[in-house]
Amino acid sequence: MRILEPDFIGKTYDDFLLRPQLSPLSTRRKVSLRTPLSRRLSLELPVVSANMDSVTGARMATAMALEGGIGVIHRGMSIAAQAERVATVKRMQGHVVEQPWCLPRGSTIGEAREFTRKHQISGILIEERPGSGILAGLLSHRDLPWDEGCEDRPVDEFMTPLDRLITGRPGISIDEAERTMFAHRIEKLPLVDGDRRIRGLITHKDVTLSRQRPYSSKDPKGRLLVAAAIGARSDFLERAAELLRAGADVLCLDVAHAHADVMRGAVEAFRARFGAAELICGNVATAEGATYLRDLGVDGVKVGIGPGRGCRTRLETAAGVPQLQAVREAWCAVGDSVPIIADGGIKDDKDIFLALICGASCVMLGSLLSGTDEAPGHVIEDPRTGEKHKIYRGMTSPQAVLEALYEYDDERLESAEAALEVPAEGQEIQIPYKGSVLDILHRIRGHLQSAVSYAGGESLAEVRSKILPHPLQYLIPLSAAARAESYER
Ligand code: XMP
Repeated sequence: MRILEPDFIGKTYDDFLLRPQLSPLSTRRKVSLRTPLSRRLSLELPVVSANMDSVTGARMATAMALEGGIGVIHRGMSIAAQAERVATVKRMQGHVVEQPWCLPRGSTIGEAREFTRKHQISGILIEERPGSGILAGLLSHRDLPWDEGCEDRPVDEFMTPLDRLITGRPGISIDEAERTMFAHRIEKLPLVDGDRRIRGLITHKDVTLSRQRPYSSKDPKGRLLVAAAIGARSDFLERAAELLRAGADVLCLDVAHAHADVMRGAVEAFRARFGAAELICGNVATAEGATYLRDLGVDGVKVGIGPGRGCRTRLETAAGVPQLQAVREAWCAVGDSVPIIADGGIKDDKDIFLALICGASCVMLGSLLSGTDEAPGHVIEDPRTGEKHKIYRGMTSPQAVLEALYEYDDERLESAEAALEVPAEGQEIQIPYKGSVLDILHRIRGHLQSAVSYAGGESLAEVRSKILPHPLQYLIPLSAAARAESYER
């Protein structure tokens, strides 16, 4: 265990600048940003979207994984609703859709049209009998008749029947599937075994997407990575079981103060039931807190008490550690024995890089990703000024707690009511509408690649291992005047 350098005490992101180093790079675009998220998972973009109800639902988690990061689906909803969002992300893109949507023979064209709208798919596998899983044919969007008089006719009349359908065998490689689809000019390749049993579906769109975004965060089956949040009390094991069943790749056991006895019991119960399932825990903000979680055997430690834009913890309780100090303190305590996620207080892209070279291997972002199309919630337009915004709120803000209360069933209602009795440590604010989060993620990627170049390295991993042992050799502490010169524009 290292001793925290005294110059980090009381310091946060705006307190330092990076001293530019000799760069070996001719182009920054190829700089790898690959970094660990947890013991077994890595990301190509060191960014995690926060488990907050105004930041991460299925749409944000999908965008995050497509761009190489990951989203943690918040838990301010019923277990079933959260598991459904996890399943939606897992279903979104993969080499193989393992359980494609099916309709039985005899369904009507009207039903099929509604089915494609509901599930946002462009073709439906038709099975012999409901639930039989025996392929009868394929009804693609081009097979759906324009004529409204056909709504009551059976899909059998319009589908391509199995004997005229090109299919693949289970286990087909992505290259072979692509060749087959190209050779026959088809967009969908159902996978069936010798008994005509449906074993998956490969779509041209998914294959193309996966080629266009080689840095997407994917599991070994080519499906997008997704994380989901759980708490440490009442139904958390039941929630964890459903989320893992739905395909969550990592769970985030998230409580306000994780350097607490309750975490020991929670992590032990989790391990007893789910073995080595990937588990990130937080939040802590001290060397002792990080060591405590690492020694419980968690796979990632989330660091940050009160730096977040929706947080009132420091104002209400005086508890907290300036965020760059907290990150550095955690790294000095646990080193590379477990990845650290710096959570909260990131206002500018440069803060991400400072967190990464002082100890974090990823950052968690809330407000920076809020206000985007992919964040849950509506765009609100001010009728007087025409300005657009979205709501961003702390998860213990009265508004977030109340909404969770409406989502829960009776049993959970009690816990939400109890939560309302605890004074709020979060608040709601309005964030200007920002458009797509994809633009923000592209910008962050570019800025991090440039920062690696200024730091004199060829990859994030390289500059981290160079700077982490002695970051103060590479950082310049700022006077008030230097801070004004740097940041006031
Ligand atoms: P940023 O600064 O990125 O911070 O918006 C996101 C992080 O804020 C934390 N969070 C809260 N902290 N009360 C708190 O003290 C709250 O109600 C609250 N809600 C979110 C959380 O760690 C998140 O990732």
